[in-house]
Amino acid sequence: SDAKVDGFKAAAAQAAVELVKPGMRLGLGTGSTAYHFVEAVGVLVRNGLDVTCVPTSEATRSHAEKLRIPLSSLDETPQLDLTVDGADELDDQLRLIKGGGGALLREKIVATASDRMVVIADASKVSETLGSHPLPVEVVRFGLRATMRLVEALAAEAGCEGDIRLRAGQGDLPFVTDQGNLIVDCAFHKISEPEVLAFALKRVPGVVEHGLFLGLADLAIIAGPGGVKAMRR
Ligand code: A5P
Repeated sequence: SDAKVDGFKAAAAQAAVELVKPGMRLGLGTGSTAYHFVEAVGVLVRNGLDVTCVPTSEATRSHAEKLRIPLSSLDETPQLDLTVDGADELDDQLRLIKGGGGALLREKIVATASDRMVVIADASKVSETLGSHPLPVEVVRFGLRATMRLVEALAAEAGCEGDIRLRAGQGDLPFVTDQGNLIVDCAFHKISEPEVLAFALKRVPGVVEHGLFLGLADLAIIAGPGGVKAMRR
């Protein structure tokens, strides 16, 4: 059930909060799993812990503000000790698909600025081959159609074919990211070589960033019916 899965997400977040030490500079992820981590950091802060946090989205920023978590920007605090974030999918090499919530660009910038990235997730997110979750690709508005065609062609060259569509937002409008860009969701089903696809996508000028997070996470904390376990790269 949803309540059960939410309990797993909370359990993973609770385990991750043990990694938080006084004085740390922390990146706060986005999504329903990261939500629990922000809540847990809020409790520590209320109990007097001194940390400085950088949020990965406007949603996480307002959540953290409500909990009176001390916030900074990446401009003020360009290097972080630890970022804890969720993922839409991960494999046993800790390669991730992120961006289901549309925050992938800031999430990747913050994770890359951190000494460590730790993923928290319920066990349903782990898969043998990435691609069950559509890959979000953030693109600029200018030249959208041309960009989508190029994404399709270069992805096919990299061995990934599938349905590519613009993410919908409110009414007839497209979904718009915190950075004012659009998201194209690519249902590739199987991404056998994520590094090859990532390289291909980066060659498209209209592509700002994609949801493949490769070589970023070094620990995943996974909670499921069997309890909480750690996966390491
Ligand atoms: C946000 O853009 C995403 O990358 C989320 O981190 C990811 O979708 C995980 O979200 P949930 O924890 O809600 O599944």
